[in-house]
Amino acid sequence: MRVACLPAQGGCGHIRVVLITSGGSGIGLETAVAFAKAGYAVYASMRDPRRSARLDEAAAAAGVHVSVIALGVTEPASVEAATGGLLEREGWLDVPVNNAGIGELGAVETLPPAQVLAIFETNVFGALHVLRAVPPTMRCLVLQRRLLP
Ligand SMILES: NC(=O)c1ccc[n+]([C@@H]2O[C@H](COP(=O)([O-])OP(=O)(O)OC[C@H]3O[C@@H](n4cnc5c(N)ncnc54)[C@H](OP(=O)(O)O)[C@@H]3O)[C@@H](O)[C@H]2O)c1
Repeated sequence: MRVACLPAQGGCGHIRVVLITSGGSGIGLETAVAFAKAGYAVYASMRDPRRSARLDEAAAAAGVHVSVIALGVTEPASVEAATGGLLEREGWLDVPVNNAGIGELGAVETLPPAQVLAIFETNVFGALHVLRAVPPTMRCLVLQRRLLP
């Protein structure tokens, strides 16, 4: 993947930027609101942003704002479009949180193979798609900051 260096707009000591995959429910939602309450600029992704009502309500109740973006971790093009848009807007991302995932309880022999594949595609390769899209740009900007005053 080719990584373009973007101009950093914030800088250390300024507002920090967080991306939480699947921040529309559960742990992702709570994490998104907690980061926003701590003063971070928070982007919560979900496969279908129209389903952000619970997050919107929780953020409003906490008196904070969380930006919702469309992202499906199993679709590399979707991950690249979402993270590219975020980086264009913020110029920087401090914390990617790979929260999207499928939790499955039960004996391994009872899991249908298709479900095992879905778990790996989401929990393993989904996280990898996000890690391929974001940290190279983070490294690139860290390098720029070391070189520029
Ligand atoms: N709750 C627990 O006790 C527990 C324990 C261990 C690990 N975890 C892990 O912690 C994370 C959050 O857990 P949670 O309980 O808060 O879960 P949750 O409310 O079910 O949220 C998980 C989110 O992952 C996304 N997701 C599910 N299947 C997906 C797929 N095939 N492709 C892309 N995204 C998919 C969905 O978000 P969108 O559809 O909005 O994108 C879903 O809302 C998960 O990764 C879970 O496996 C939870």
